[in-house]
Amino acid sequence: MTKRLWAWLILLGLVGVVVFAQQAQKDIFKGRTSQRLDALAFIQPGLGSVMIDGNRFTDVYFAAHGGNWGLAQYQVKEMPEIQEVGEITRPQKAPMLKAFEQTHLLPLAKVIEKKDLTAFDQAFNSAIQGCNGCHVANGYSFINYKLPKTPVEAYLNFNLHTEPKYGETPQK
Ligand code: HEC
Repeated sequence: MTKRLWAWLILLGLVGVVVFAQQAQKDIFKGRTSQRLDALAFIQPGLGSVMIDGNRFTDVYFAAHGGNWGLAQYQVKEMPEIQEVGEITRPQKAPMLKAFEQTHLLPLAKVIEKKDLTAFDQAFNSAIQGCNGCHVANGYSFINYKLPKTPVEAYLNFNLHTEPKYGETPQK
């Protein structure tokens, strides 16, 4: 074999070892505790998963309009809880998520308590602007929330008439 070929083979072998070492680092069952923790951190849900909460947000609208104020209240309270996952896994986005909670989710919770549908619609529309404003600010202007004509979680009974007595607001 020529020297050149040997050099290539050795290089390929080295690349293989490096790739293998990196893979090994991403094993949650093997390696040092710190490596296993890194592997666990690596697979935590980021903002994309948290944003599936868009379904919850949509539920809030249909619940309020169907008269199921208890469900609207419950969903608006659950939203910041799932956002906390994003605040921990994407700490640089935490201040914006917190600001969204304070500026939009709290007022929404307040108008739900009052069962004031006109104020609800205003608060809901301004929250939509908050959602999409944050997408633009983060370079995701192509992710634009738009209220669907029918609820996504259609298996929930939005027309069950209940009172907003769930009792907790999104305030932590
Ligand atoms: C703190 C800023 C911020 C706020 C507030 C915010 N988003 Fe997002 N959203 C993002 C970012 C950033 C992404 C891109 C996902 C990623 O980083 O993985 C995203 C992605 C999404 C996605 C796409 C998820 C996917 O991967 O399929 C949806 C849907 C979404 N957001 C809905 C909403 C809705 C609805 C609201 C308001 C109730 C909202 N977002 C509020 C920052 C925000």
